[in-house]
Amino acid sequence: HGGRVAVLPVIDSTNQYLMDRIGTLKSGDACVAEYQNKGRGRRGRQWISPFGSNLYLSLYWRLEQGPAAAIGLSLAIGIVMAEVMQQMGASDVRVKWPNDLYLKDRKLAGILVEISGKAGDAANLVIGAGINLTMSKSSSGVIDQGWINLQEAGITIDRNALAARLVTQLREALQVFEREGFAPFVARWQPLDNYNNRPVKLLIGEQVIKGIARGINAQGALLLDQGGEIKPYLGGEISLRGD
Ligand code: BTN
Repeated sequence: HGGRVAVLPVIDSTNQYLMDRIGTLKSGDACVAEYQNKGRGRRGRQWISPFGSNLYLSLYWRLEQGPAAAIGLSLAIGIVMAEVMQQMGASDVRVKWPNDLYLKDRKLAGILVEISGKAGDAANLVIGAGINLTMSKSSSGVIDQGWINLQEAGITIDRNALAARLVTQLREALQVFEREGFAPFVARWQPLDNYNNRPVKLLIGEQVIKGIARGINAQGALLLDQGGEIKPYLGGEISLRGD
């Protein structure tokens, strides 16, 4: 496996940096940046990435099973990141389905998994994580959802130490995922779940579905209790909101 970590001062996007170099990368190669001028979030949104104050990290992995295995994978990434942050002192970090990290009911970090490769072939995955460490209200501009940084919560975690631990533990987790899939991760979701047994809304396109969140199933689908009937929801275009 690869063991390189490129440290970049300024970049368009750490995910893009790895996407542009896929042919030269080995699983486990990573990069971090001080600043992104075209940081991207899920669903085509931008990820505001001011200088020096946050962590912008991407990691490459070649998944031999192909792109179909990637749904559970993105949940596994969130689980591992939350566990790492808890180990380093942020004991209240939680996960929000499918793969945000939350603290005090506000967004602390986002994960963007980008996949290239044809169906049937191995998948090239670029896993990107942005974690808010000390970003100020003035440097962040307008962000259209409630967010928090570690500093505001009174937590100090050294950025380089965090990056190093994340890279190490994500590499280990990806090796496990390659061999065993999502199964070893399923039970680790529940104690981290920010919304377990809470009323939520799911946004699927224009449709709004209300229910009580009841964790996930073995495939990583969100389970929603709708008047006693528990239904699984799986898919990239679903957005979860607290009620
Ligand atoms: C989201 O919650 O919408 C996902 C945000 C992902 C942001 C990270 S920052 C490092 C990496 N490079 C990017 O351009 N995006 C991801």
